[in-house]
Amino acid sequence: MTTTNAGIIGMGHAYPSGVLTNADLEKIVETSDEWITTRTGIKQRHKAADNEYTSQFGTLAAQRAIENAGLQPEDIDIIVCATTTPDQIMPSTGALIQAQLGAINAAGMDIFAACSGFLYGITMVESMIRTGQVRNAVVIGAEVLTKYVDYTDRSTCVIFGDGAGAAVLAPVAEGKGILATKIRSDGRYEEALYAPGGGTKLGTTHQTIDNRDHFFKMKGNELFKVAVRSMAEISAEMIEKAGYRVEDIDLVIPHQANQRITDAVASRLGVPEEKVFSNIAEHGNTSSASIPIALDECIESGKVKSGDLVLLTAFGGGATWGATVIRF
Ligand code: UT7
Repeated sequence: MTTTNAGIIGMGHAYPSGVLTNADLEKIVETSDEWITTRTGIKQRHKAADNEYTSQFGTLAAQRAIENAGLQPEDIDIIVCATTTPDQIMPSTGALIQAQLGAINAAGMDIFAACSGFLYGITMVESMIRTGQVRNAVVIGAEVLTKYVDYTDRSTCVIFGDGAGAAVLAPVAEGKGILATKIRSDGRYEEALYAPGGGTKLGTTHQTIDNRDHFFKMKGNELFKVAVRSMAEISAEMIEKAGYRVEDIDLVIPHQANQRITDAVASRLGVPEEKVFSNIAEHGNTSSASIPIALDECIESGKVKSGDLVLLTAFGGGATWGATVIRF
């Protein structure tokens, strides 16, 4: 079987115009700009209005990515939307985005892998492109997390923000594109980050609503060490698998969970601060959208150029984690 490398040929991102600053949060819960800034690095996050929802931002990001790739919606064979905050339980947000895009030749589907969802998506379509099953794929990370956040819980409401990022993947020249990629999970961490209510295990009742079971609950400090260890280990493994050393990496774009997690991953890997991208101050933690938003910002600003070797790594609820090494 002949195989082809898959690479990113276009990107786009979008987020709501609404902004929630640390000062705004000081008026809602017992917190302070000082605590949020020193413990997380976040200064503000984007927040969708009541009439805004996930597929709108996913569609906008995907439209920009398809245009940036020089393609038309009809050229797309598959749309994979990574989201933990779908428009609704059914149909999938990927199918809704397919319709909104007018991607009449594509299959639309969702991936549920929390903050690692974008890397799950590109790992899956990479093999589909490499084996010739599809040619042009769109992978989206899209979230409206602020509608699942409990604004009486200061341990979660200060962290999460909304937005979407999208990448078009297609065959690229040998030596370019995705050189190594791997995803993992460990469901034993279920209760470290979850929304227990509203599924088949704990269906929606008046009581689940009163208990606020439909909102995210997080044991952040339980996840912290696992996140650092998992991202550092899988990143080192993928750099080696790609045939490189840590020093060869031009830029690391980690999931934007917490500035202290990013710093700890970089120090464990032995990557200097200037080679690690962060936009958490402006966006907060946008889960599956954080890596594609960050990567698109890096491409737009010239921080990522053709020929650069880039490491993406993520960790999220599940627990899930992954790493991808790409030559642009
Ligand atoms: O997106 C991927 C999945 N998620 C993660 O990877 C999250 C990883 N975890 C984290 O980012 C951090 O654990 C948090 C930012 C969530 C929390 O930071 P922390 O340094 O682990 O704080 P903590 O939970 O250990 O809480 C320390 C103190 C507590 O007070 P006491 O018990 O020491 O008196 C909390 O009640 O900070 C308090 N606290 C706050 N204080 C002011 C918790 N949230 C806040 C807040 N403002 N917003």
